[in-house]
Amino acid sequence: MTKLMIEDRCILNGTVEISCAKNAILPIIAAALLTEEKCTLKDVPALDDVEVMEAVVRSTGAHAVREGQNQLIIQAESITDYEATYELIRKMRASFLIMGPMLARVGKVRISLPGGCAIGTRPIDLHLKGFSTMGANITLGHGYIEAYAERLKGDSVYLDFPSVGATENIMMAACLAEGLTVIENAAEEPEIVDLASFLNKMGGNVKGAGTDTIRIEGVKALKGTTHTAIPDRIEAGTFMIAAAATGGDVTLQSVVPEHLKPVTAKLKEMGAEITESEKSIRVRANERLNPIDIKTMPYPGFPTDMQSQMMTAMCVAKGTSIATETVFENRFMHINELKLMGAKIKVDGRSAIIEGCEKLSGARVKATDLRAGAALAIAGLCAEGATEISDVYHIDRGYITIEKKLQKLGAPIKRIEE
Ligand code: EPZ
Repeated sequence: MTKLMIEDRCILNGTVEISCAKNAILPIIAAALLTEEKCTLKDVPALDDVEVMEAVVRSTGAHAVREGQNQLIIQAESITDYEATYELIRKMRASFLIMGPMLARVGKVRISLPGGCAIGTRPIDLHLKGFSTMGANITLGHGYIEAYAERLKGDSVYLDFPSVGATENIMMAACLAEGLTVIENAAEEPEIVDLASFLNKMGGNVKGAGTDTIRIEGVKALKGTTHTAIPDRIEAGTFMIAAAATGGDVTLQSVVPEHLKPVTAKLKEMGAEITESEKSIRVRANERLNPIDIKTMPYPGFPTDMQSQMMTAMCVAKGTSIATETVFENRFMHINELKLMGAKIKVDGRSAIIEGCEKLSGARVKATDLRAGAALAIAGLCAEGATEISDVYHIDRGYITIEKKLQKLGAPIKRIEE
């Protein structure tokens, strides 16, 4: 079993390089199935989730190979298998993102229902609503979804909630559909804009990504292209919070400050000093942070993927904060672990009331999901005495060598393989 061991509290100082965004790369790998030509993705971190997505596209008969350390080549010259098995979908929910590209490219797909996960039930009804509006014939049985469509037909799809995955899946499918697809109440996350830019480089015609209405005019075929995904705003936000919570001084390189506005605004409210330049952000804090309230919302609201890390900062703030989770129904699993470290938190429905204390105390805790794990790492950096985090595989899904990046900032953290 792999563990992360943090010896004692510390103050983070220095510079950290942010990697390309996992949540941008995953749909882009799926989108490469839309063409028989070669797609080259640059600066792809070898995260566990990215490797699962590579395996998913390979399972269709496509080639996905790494060149050097960080270049990923995908070529789906011919698609020979139409099934994404339970084993693959169970490993990573985002594997479901191949449904749109497969339906659009080869007209059929059989894919395991993803089921619930640690952060909630996470239905896929909006994805399916989109495909059936576009003429796909969908049947469900034995835990699998089968979908057929000779050629999808563009139509208007209104999403009841601006789901990131549904927007991406429908947007990809619509690129090869006949005529115009309009997605209303679409998700506006930067990862959607990045996917649209990749699809347009492939010869697609996607307009309006980044707003709540996306218009996609279908084309007959797409071509190969080369792309570098946007910087990971969640990895960046995690380091920003770690810097502020430890009273440190950290500069993040290779970021898009605009994407981090919701986090920056809250950290400023907490008293941190933030300096932005075109591609970097410096975060400084030299006293205990002020308490704040946050409510997670779709972009440009405060991201659900930052809620647990921000909660750790609230745990050591000088007063009472409230965190309300509106996106996922079960994203408070980190609370019990934070309590083991001395945090004072009460849950009232979808809100957590956090009474800040001067310091946390090191303990043995367990990462319950990816961002919960990151929150515990920050907690360990703010805790007196040793913290041992188990189930580190959750953290490895979305943070590349987190301990090395933190070590560079002076954190007494190491990875232990047992
Ligand atoms: C994406 O998940 C991200 N994953 C998540 O990142 C992120 O937390 C989430 O968006 C919200 O920002 C990837 O990009 C790979 P949603 P996704 O569809 O697409 C409900 C991380 O830690 N919903 O926007 O699955 C759903 O239940 C992760 O990196 C429906 O009701 O999220 C949830 O309550 C985890 N029906 C809400 O919408 C549907 O058909 C938002 O989900 C689809 C979603």
